[in-house]
Amino acid sequence: METAIRNIHLLSVILFLLIYIIKTYLLLFNKEEALAMFTKGFKIPEMIISFLFLATGIYLITQIPEIKSLLILKIIAVFISIPLAIFGFKKKNKILAASSLLLIIAAYGFAEMSKKQKSKALENITTSVLSGKELYEASCSPCHGDDGKLQKLGATDLSLTTMDIFSKIEIVKKGKGAMTPFEGQLTEDQIKSVVEYTESLKK
Ligand code: HEC
Repeated sequence: METAIRNIHLLSVILFLLIYIIKTYLLLFNKEEALAMFTKGFKIPEMIISFLFLATGIYLITQIPEIKSLLILKIIAVFISIPLAIFGFKKKNKILAASSLLLIIAAYGFAEMSKKQKSKALENITTSVLSGKELYEASCSPCHGDDGKLQKLGATDLSLTTMDIFSKIEIVKKGKGAMTPFEGQLTEDQIKSVVEYTESLKK
């Protein structure tokens, strides 16, 4: 349901912008006759599209759990630009018509950019969720070796240890003897997955 409304919203925004781009172009280049014809011919479609644009937009706003400042800017920009555009075209004011169009485009452009940034941030988080093996090789291999048998600095042979998972987690968190504590360096989940990996080193 929400994706359908989102798609209708996007489509109506694109159509709305198309109509306004054409109208602005005609106004800016003094094609008054063509503008009058276009405005008349597209009166009904424009009304329908504007209605869909606003109705779906308002519906989508009500569905957002937490409204961010950027979104408020977008909403304000859209709500200012529409009456500005209508007024601008009525008065055949080129500056007003053009700037209202730019305002809408900027509002949607910014919103898209912030979405992209967010998905990039998400990507970074997922790539930092390394597998237990990678974490082991980066953090534990220097002393325990890839197979767990290195015993550097008196490190325990992890292929022979009989220690259970919970005690291992404690040791990794707090450290022991020459082994440095990993609490704070690795997240809770990372410690769990690295310890789970050490289970596979057992013979
Ligand atoms: C600086 C070297 C060093 C690093 C790095 C290191 N360890 Fe150790 N580890 C040791 C030493 C030394 C001991 C033995 C401590 C003792 O008993 O005094 C040990 C003990 C252990 C034990 C206890 C085993 C037992 O049976 O007593 C576990 C489990 C363990 N390490 C897991 C890990 C894991 C998992 C990592 C990576 C997150 C890791 N270690 C990183 C040096 C290291």
